[in-house]
Amino acid sequence: MTAPKKIIIVAGARPNFMKVALLINALKKKLGKRALLVHTGQHYDYQMSEVFFKELNIPKPDIFLNVGSGSHGAQTGKIMEMFEAVVVKEKPSLVVAAGDVNSTLACSLVAAKLDVKVAHIEAGLRSFDRGMPEEINRLATDVISDILFVSEASGLKNLRREGVEPKKVVYVGNVMIDSVIHNLPSIDRSGVLKKLGLQKKNYGVLTLHRPSNVDSKKALLEIYDILNVISSKVRLVYPIHPRSKAKIAGFGLEAKFGSLKNLTLVDPLGYFDFLKLVKESCFALTDSGGIQEEATYLKVPCLTMRENTERPSTVSEGTNELVGRDKKAILAAVNKVLAGKWKKGRIPKYWDGRATERILKILQKSL
Ligand code: UD1
Repeated sequence: MTAPKKIIIVAGARPNFMKVALLINALKKKLGKRALLVHTGQHYDYQMSEVFFKELNIPKPDIFLNVGSGSHGAQTGKIMEMFEAVVVKEKPSLVVAAGDVNSTLACSLVAAKLDVKVAHIEAGLRSFDRGMPEEINRLATDVISDILFVSEASGLKNLRREGVEPKKVVYVGNVMIDSVIHNLPSIDRSGVLKKLGLQKKNYGVLTLHRPSNVDSKKALLEIYDILNVISSKVRLVYPIHPRSKAKIAGFGLEAKFGSLKNLTLVDPLGYFDFLKLVKESCFALTDSGGIQEEATYLKVPCLTMRENTERPSTVSEGTNELVGRDKKAILAAVNKVLAGKWKKGRIPKYWDGRATERILKILQKSL
């Protein structure tokens, strides 16, 4: 018999944690010390990282790289250098990375160059907008992956068009939705509505952090203008990402945003509180990728402030619509929601809480 095989699961930024929580627990149960969790430290604040470990019962990382923030090149490079030392020492036979953040690309690239197999969870998603850092991460990660786990039908089509060998691609469904389904009882128990003085279905949730929306004063002023009108119709709650907070402060717009009486700014929330907030809201106004999926599953209207989405099933099947930063389109959408005329949507195939289970079956074969 050959030496027992080892597997490394990578997580680094907030949207990774809920995607790997169930998987790492299942792998640790099966493989014990042969399943290692590496946290790159791309996100490091309590509210951006540790709270997810606590709530989702993710084991303490076996290895923490503590890379912190930086420009894309610096952050990706630092993760690569540090993760290379880990792979050389641990000699895994497989590295599993999820999503589209810098940690995903950095760790996949290191593994591929050391001739270690790479499995990518959430493969094949494409916004076709190379101005988004995540799109570069998606394309580059998929091209070097050996197993590509697809979350929605568009992923299959995209990978086929890009010439990826069909035998590498597996349509497993959505691990982020696994996490929602698994944690619904805790989400329902969250006291966040009471804490923020909110009534069910009487408020909208706002999340904005994409460079295209928050990195210029012009974009932020357009957003302010939009929020000014919407918040006169309905209360808005904005758990603000550190990146957006820093940008608003940097452009001297804190007082302006703070003056919107019906807009409540709060620090980033934990997983249970945030999902409870979305579940009971009358709509989400967002530029996030994951929230488009969570809102679709929870049947909450989602207005995505982007020109494109890498998750088109949330629009064609779910509750999502793209509204860009177009004031007219956004106001029309909000009015439609408030009039109760928004589409109800349906839940895409394999968003059924069993994607992790399907991934495990495939991983077991390759271990
Ligand atoms: C990253 C992901 C993005 C994802 C988002 C979710 C990439 C390219 N982007 O963007 O896809 O939607 O995470 O949160 O990987 N900061 C803190 N504390 C933290 C983390 C960050 O204060 O724990 C601040 C720092 O000032 C940092 C900035 O936020 O410079 C941006 O963080 P970074 O990880 O570079 O990218 P995100 O915008 O969070």
